[in-house]
Amino acid sequence: MKKIAIFASGNGSNFEALVKGAKKYEVSFLFCDRKDAFVIERAKKLNIPVRYASIIVEKDKFEEKILSFLKEFNVDLIVLAGYMKLIKRKILNKYKNKIINIHPSLLPKYPGANAIEQAFMANEKEFGITIHFVDEGMDTGQIIFQKSFSKSKNDSLEDTENKVHILEHKYYPKFINKLSK
Ligand code: GRF
Repeated sequence: MKKIAIFASGNGSNFEALVKGAKKYEVSFLFCDRKDAFVIERAKKLNIPVRYASIIVEKDKFEEKILSFLKEFNVDLIVLAGYMKLIKRKILNKYKNKIINIHPSLLPKYPGANAIEQAFMANEKEFGITIHFVDEGMDTGQIIFQKSFSKSKNDSLEDTENKVHILEHKYYPKFINKLSK
């Protein structure tokens, strides 16, 4: 059984889907960089240990602190799920090709925040998700999985967002199970 750490900063719907969909992996802990993030509530309910550090408080020691958590749980894989910080070299070097992220657009289009909204405003017809390896950049690492769908004519932004999130919740756990085999 592979051990994974999930890094998240916000709502945590992907975190919850990953915990509930675990078959070939187990979720060792949640790393969260925001004290008030709803994902912490989800982790408590699902009995997943939480580790917290803030880049504002910790500054230079932020990465070291994360590395100490990873060591504590001896994880095989880091899975980002709505984690709003870039991963720096110290961690990237230690976990080469072992850090995965999900993004709610068909990368390389619409990296960064508000990807679904940006695609919607640009009148895109195709929407979808991308799972990729993490490098120093913002959503720039090697793409390993994509799933797309055509937006229906009358779909609102909210409808489209819901459809994207349904795909994420279905395929992220599926993909991590496959990778963990
Ligand atoms: C998801 O859309 C994910 O693709 C992106 O951030 C969002 C996180 O949502 N990286 P949630 O916190 O998992 O609900």
